Amino acid sequence: MGLALSSSFLMAQSSQTPLYKNALAPIDARVKDLIGRMTLEEKVLQLSQSFLGINDNENNLVGAKTTASTASVGSMIYIPESVEMRNKIQKQAMEETRLGIPVLFAYDVIHGFRTIYPIGPAQACSWDLPLVEKAFSVAAQEARMSGIDWVFAPMIDIARDGRWGRISEGYGEDPYTTSRFAVAAVRGFQGEDNNFTSNHKVAACLKHYVGYGAEDGGRDYGYTELSRQTLWDTYLPPYEAAIKAGAATVMSSFNNISGIPATIHKYLLTEVLKEKWGFKGFVVSDWAAVEQLVNQNAAADRKDATRLSIQAGLDMDMTDGCYQENLQKLVEEGVVDVKYVDEALSRVLTLKFKLGLFEKPYTPVYKDAERILLPESRQIASKLAEESYVLLKNESGTLPLSAKKIAVIGPMVKNQKDLLGAWSGKGKSTDVETIWDGLQKEFGADVTLSYAAGCKLDGNDRKGFAEAVSLANQSEVVLLCLGEKAGWSGENASRSTIALPQIQIDLLTELSKAGKPIVLVLSSGRPIELGKIEHLCQSIIEIWQPGIAGGTPLAGILSGRINPSGKLCLTFPYSTGQIPTYYNERNRARRGNQGTYQDIPTDPLYTFAHGLSYTTYSYGELKSEVTNFKRNQTFKVTVPVTNSGDREGVETVHWFISDPVCSITRPKIELKSFERQSLKPGETKVFTFEVIPMRDLSFVNEDGERFLEKGVYYIQVKDKKLKIELTD
Ligand code: GLC
Repeated sequence: MGLALSSSFLMAQSSQTPLYKNALAPIDARVKDLIGRMTLEEKVLQLSQSFLGINDNENNLVGAKTTASTASVGSMIYIPESVEMRNKIQKQAMEETRLGIPVLFAYDVIHGFRTIYPIGPAQACSWDLPLVEKAFSVAAQEARMSGIDWVFAPMIDIARDGRWGRISEGYGEDPYTTSRFAVAAVRGFQGEDNNFTSNHKVAACLKHYVGYGAEDGGRDYGYTELSRQTLWDTYLPPYEAAIKAGAATVMSSFNNISGIPATIHKYLLTEVLKEKWGFKGFVVSDWAAVEQLVNQNAAADRKDATRLSIQAGLDMDMTDGCYQENLQKLVEEGVVDVKYVDEALSRVLTLKFKLGLFEKPYTPVYKDAERILLPESRQIASKLAEESYVLLKNESGTLPLSAKKIAVIGPMVKNQKDLLGAWSGKGKSTDVETIWDGLQKEFGADVTLSYAAGCKLDGNDRKGFAEAVSLANQSEVVLLCLGEKAGWSGENASRSTIALPQIQIDLLTELSKAGKPIVLVLSSGRPIELGKIEHLCQSIIEIWQPGIAGGTPLAGILSGRINPSGKLCLTFPYSTGQIPTYYNERNRARRGNQGTYQDIPTDPLYTFAHGLSYTTYSYGELKSEVTNFKRNQTFKVTVPVTNSGDREGVETVHWFISDPVCSITRPKIELKSFERQSLKPGETKVFTFEVIPMRDLSFVNEDGERFLEKGVYYIQVKDKKLKIELTD
């Protein structure tokens, strides 16, 4: 098909300048021209990603070394902090290679680059999409100004097993929630119009495609039993939403999906992603996942792994050199058709042109003050932390604190590193405001704060107990700060239990003997087992891993200056043994406790969307514009909510639907909308759910086709249900 070439392009095109170097030419014309000039060897190098630096992902044990890197490589995971070095490598690519194709520099910017934000689940517990989008916009700005063009985020794996360390990276157990936050992250990273060249934007990467969070026992790099039906109704929706929002790339996952590793899953990588959804970006493997196909018994050797991967639709090979070593031979031997190489190459080059790397291959060297930890970036971190904290329990108004003598105890009180969480990029512990710092600033001279660590996060050293108990005896209330190390979640951090280490439980138990109210502050990357200890605490607040600015917001909530508004995006099981438990399970054949574990309570301890406030909200009746409706009819359902307490607060209303009879049984309820609004004392506001039946009430079958069946549906908010009926 002829390419429509503009007159300005024709004027700019001179015989000496190759078309691909003409910035006025259409990108597809530039790609076509460049591919036509490339040797097979050059093509293969563009589909290879190397790695430079010392791996800063403490759990990724296979990635400790730097792979051989050449400036002709398609992409480089760039760990060093030197922009000058990055530009030096780029200069080699632009000036010392035959065609001058820029390198795509990549890095894991998961919840911030240097300004580290709360971890994924915490972001979701804020239910504040615009604020999360701003956080990702800052992450993009800091990354791009530091020489990074492509980030390996957002991580959008649905997770329902807290034993899985990577539950700390995503947005929880629900497909709809994760879809909304995935889109917010893509918009923040790439800009609303996905125009990467404007105000420091980066290419996003949706990961890990797909179903990584469903691994047996929550153990990494493992097996996932996933039917097509489950893929479509639970794990694919966030990817579909974010692809439609323009996400530039996708990373395939390590897991074996019912017998076919995701790395070579042709149905998912090509038929669904590229053919059904029309995805124009490219797919990169996860770390050394191509060569690991041999471990997974899917390939005989690296060469076989290369063949399987490229033919399945895996466009770029991350760090194991399989493509660099084998792909040219496979094409020359006639085993792999060069069309696979050219298709992958076209996708990779298209992104490089879109990012403007041919015209602006180098990153200006900025001063730190221009580039990182800007005041407004810190403010976003503080606000997001504040909104992410979830007040799980608050008996007899223990919070906000009114005591004048507070024992501040626990291994988290002065902790910095672990509040950053896993995958903390270029974040530095010294950037972190501790809980202790926040308390010192918040509480005036009339309040005595006495500190004792009590114990370490793990180990068996109880020598600090006596001092802690003594402080408790001398104080009116105990603020006990417990939790997890950053390295206990993230990659390769699966744990056999989600309970706190025994030493921390013992400290709590000893302190409870002092008979003073205990406020438990929990910093963790996963839901923690509290079933057997929550009775020892009058109040419990989950602060997740808040990043650099968690201390002051927490102190503000403890003092009552801030009214907590966070609500859970993940169910807190009663105990590890109750896993998996999540809000949108399918109903069992029998009700009540029939079919549940008989040796523990039936219900989880804290459910999805749970979160307390210092005020109270009373919900009026649900009202719908229609009771009977047609499938192409949009209608609104509303609920009035009144702040019936004595202080302002922010309430998030979660709108669920249920379909009591469906040809494919559905989750008992499904979240389909949520809305946040602030309410003054006594104020009533109307919350609205605009129902588009095909979007909000339909279901999906194993072929990814949505369907909407006549009959009764329910709209549900809290315990209120409204019956509606589709009549056509
Ligand atoms: C790791 C992780 C992935 C990360 C990649 C690059 O193994 O699985 O999330 O983006 O390698 O560091």
